[in-house]
Amino acid sequence: MKFSREWAMPSHETFSIPPIAVFIDKYLRASTVSIDPFARDFTRATYTNDLNPDTLASSHVDSLDFLRGLDDSGVLADLIIFDPPYSPRQVKECYNGIGLKMKQEDAQRTCSWVREKEIIHDLLEVGGVFLYFGWDSMGMGRTRGYQIEEILLVCHGPGHNDTICMAERKLQHQESFRMVPEGRTLP
Ligand SMILES: C[S@@+](CC[C@H](N)C(=O)[O-])C[C@H]1O[C@@H](n2cnc3c(N)ncnc32)[C@H](O)[C@@H]1O
Repeated sequence: MKFSREWAMPSHETFSIPPIAVFIDKYLRASTVSIDPFARDFTRATYTNDLNPDTLASSHVDSLDFLRGLDDSGVLADLIIFDPPYSPRQVKECYNGIGLKMKQEDAQRTCSWVREKEIIHDLLEVGGVFLYFGWDSMGMGRTRGYQIEEILLVCHGPGHNDTICMAERKLQHQESFRMVPEGRTLP
């Protein structure tokens, strides 16, 4: 596994941060079909979405609906870019910015994004790459059949969380275990 650490100024536009721009560019260049459910104004993926209608993404629905729609259409990708709000506070800021009210379950989603990951697991072909950005390194994980290929830690100085950038390769399609009984909703 490749591990590196860089210093850079923080930005809401994650992929404009120089070391992260280099990181993502490398994987995008090797990709044919890519999906970015939280794209904001980053338009390089094949399929882009952002809940905020004032962004340059080509679709503006909730990430779950967007991913379900691609799955229903039979899309298969070799790269998934996953750069969601990193905390309940960031979700609240996003929702407030577009006049939506954040519910309890929306805040809890940032703990795991488990429902999104279940669909992503179906959308990503074996051999494909999942790029995860956040304040933790909980990507898709070994139990689903993924191996960490690279971690880039970007330090933003005192008082700021580092941004953890992680690339995982899907080695096999391990049937993922359902974490909740049928009929129950996940956060
Ligand atoms: C960390 S930012 C993405 C930044 C982007 N990767 C860039 O480099 O500019 C997260 C984005 O997710 C969007 N978002 C928040 N909740 C969402 C949801 N439930 N579904 C889709 N997009 C959402 C926000 O509007 C915000 O633009």
